[in-house]
Amino acid sequence: MGKVWCGSCTLTLAAIVVLLGKPVGASDFDHHETLDVEGKFRIFWKFDDEKIEFEARVQTTGWVGLGLSPNGGMPGSDIAIGWVKDGIAHLTDRYAEAKAQPRMDESQDWELVSGYENETHTVLRFNRKLTTCDVRDRVINEDTIRVLWAWHDDDPEDESGVSGPTYHGANRGVKSTVLLSNIITPTNIQESLNYTFDILMKNVPVPYDKDTTYWCRVFQLPNITSKHHIVKYEPIITPGNEGVVHHLLIYRCDKRHQVTILPDGDPGHACEPQFSRPCFNILAGWGVGVGTVLTPDHVGYPIGDDEDSGYVIMEMHYDNPQLASVSHAVIDQSSLPNDLEVKRLCL
Ligand code: HEM
Ligand SMILES: *[C@@H]1O[C@H](CO)[C@@H](O)[C@H](O)[C@H]1NC(C)=O
Ligand SMILES: *[C@@H]1O[C@H](CO)[C@@H](O)[C@H](O)[C@H]1NC(C)=O
Ligand SMILES: *[C@@H]1O[C@H](CO)[C@@H](O)[C@H](O)[C@H]1NC(C)=O
Repeated sequence: MGKVWCGSCTLTLAAIVVLLGKPVGASDFDHHETLDVEGKFRIFWKFDDEKIEFEARVQTTGWVGLGLSPNGGMPGSDIAIGWVKDGIAHLTDRYAEAKAQPRMDESQDWELVSGYENETHTVLRFNRKLTTCDVRDRVINEDTIRVLWAWHDDDPEDESGVSGPTYHGANRGVKSTVLLSNIITPTNIQESLNYTFDILMKNVPVPYDKDTTYWCRVFQLPNITSKHHIVKYEPIITPGNEGVVHHLLIYRCDKRHQVTILPDGDPGHACEPQFSRPCFNILAGWGVGVGTVLTPDHVGYPIGDDEDSGYVIMEMHYDNPQLASVSHAVIDQSSLPNDLEVKRLCL
């Protein structure tokens, strides 16, 4: 042996703070979404275990429709259509069997709370039980739901029939949305706090005469005292070491177990079960060929919550199949950019 070289690899984790309170100055809704590209149809909502309450703010003085669709199309959709006429708000619970005026539902489960219009907009607030007993209604759950929207410039003369709400023309569309998400998306945070931090292996003595090495080290996460979500991570591999870094996993350590914290300069050790036992929740993973990992909208890996010990184990898998061809030592001690992007929260 005698010759070793040092692999160094960092993983940058960017966490977007998630506020569990309500942003100051906003309405009492904690979720909102713009459904169309022009920004004319916006919905705001909140929910509890039983009900969801929406407010549709739509740039029209005619009728407004909001629907829950099984597949993105009108047929099979559970639809509410409402409007404000002579200062009085109307809302009807309907269902669509075809691409035609949705029929009035026998069981009226969409419930009007209030409504008004001004020169440009119609604003309707209404609610519904998440689960109703009506087969015509769609269950509202944590799944991604296809939300239909449509509007018309005119109010209907009547509730239904030929003088009821008529064809929307191009003013219609669908958007996939997670309605029951407790993860408040960044758009719901007036200003979110963006953190990025690096987890960096240093001076790992990767044996040149062994083709696979699993290397582990416990790291302390930044002291985050409230719940955040990791929404993005990417590897930073020391230039020159790309051929050796094969994959890595980061496990979150359990609060109920003790972990061994190494002093700063300690490179860590070959992975052994007794070190990693308390750390079993996979927080992040990366492998050769994978670039930046972004979690889907509304999803993030929680850290800083009650379960979090504040410690993680990074497990590196180094590959050295060329063995003897690694003839020189690569020592990288350069400090990597540790850009901490912090934006203030309005609490
Ligand atoms: C009020 C009477 C309505 C009539 C007569 C009607 C009629 C139609 C027709 C003929 C189409 C196919 C042509 C096209 O794509 O434009 C269509 C599509 C569509 N409609 Fe309606 N509609 C009505 C209400 C609604 C409402 C209230 C919504 C939403 C809540 C809606 C959402 C959609 C969507 C998203 C599409 C495109 C997807 C699909 O083809 O199924 N419609 N509608
Ligand atoms: C009309 O209501 C909409 C939606 O609440 C609002 O954005 C807009 O500023 C209002 N317009 C006027 C002139 O008050
Ligand atoms: C936080 O960072 C993400 C990704 O870099 C960015 O898209 C978002 O706009 C940032 N949020 C704020 C409030 O700066
Ligand atoms: C983290 O911050 C909290 C509150 O500021 C403090 O009480 C705690 O001692 C800190 N923990 C560590 C490990 O620095």
